[in-house]
Amino acid sequence: MTAQLNPRGDVAVLVPAAGAGVRLGPGRPKALRLLAGEPLLVHAVRGLAAAASVHTIVVAAPVAEVSTVRDLLAPIAPVIVVPGGAERQSSVAAALAAVPAGPDIVLVHDAARALTPATLVESVAAAVRAGHDAVIPVLPVVDTIKEVDAGGTVRGTVDRAALRAVQTPQGFRRAVLAAAHAAAADALTDDAGLVEKQGVPVFCVPGSDHALKITRPFDLAVAEQLLARTLDS
Ligand code: C5P
Repeated sequence: MTAQLNPRGDVAVLVPAAGAGVRLGPGRPKALRLLAGEPLLVHAVRGLAAAASVHTIVVAAPVAEVSTVRDLLAPIAPVIVVPGGAERQSSVAAALAAVPAGPDIVLVHDAARALTPATLVESVAAAVRAGHDAVIPVLPVVDTIKEVDAGGTVRGTVDRAALRAVQTPQGFRRAVLAAAHAAAADALTDDAGLVEKQGVPVFCVPGSDHALKITRPFDLAVAEQLLARTLDS
């Protein structure tokens, strides 16, 4: 059944999904790789559409797959699909440009985090609504982290207590994200990084193990298990 988005919601979610996914091995663009028989992007959009505040979803698709993605998502939820760019940042910028007037909160979410719970989407949006201009979901770092030189020798041990692993969706006051993208000079791997460069404080909320980023074949296997367990329970 096609999900309905909330016409009174205040949140637009951008889903950059135009990456090749080279680290998953040869095959289709990553967002279209199958997880339990359905593309990662379908899982991701279904989760976003289940979040009560979501008014708009914009997907940046691989240029050659725009109509395929449109057809794929039409039965899932009413989604705007635009062609992505050469880098993640340009894909996000293209999606941001397609957000209609209305939503004051913009979330940026990777299609690769296909099992992100709707509760995480809502908690990031709630923190923006509460007054934080930029919000990221984070997890503590469990491994010991070392800085290593190009020759493979350890240069030092980083204090793990001060580190966090950053997930998506990252949430922003719309005008703050638009200004950060307009001013962006270098391509960064996340949008909070652009906003930090503007001097805007970035607030952390607890992330979720289910929002893992599916990057390598191992991650896909973990995600299959998680999904099977969720469907069982
Ligand atoms: O490559 P990486 O895993 O960091 O990509 C994160 C997200 O950005 C993925 O969902 C990917 O599809 C997206 N992306 C994009 N356009 C690109 C490169 C990556 O939308 N040119």
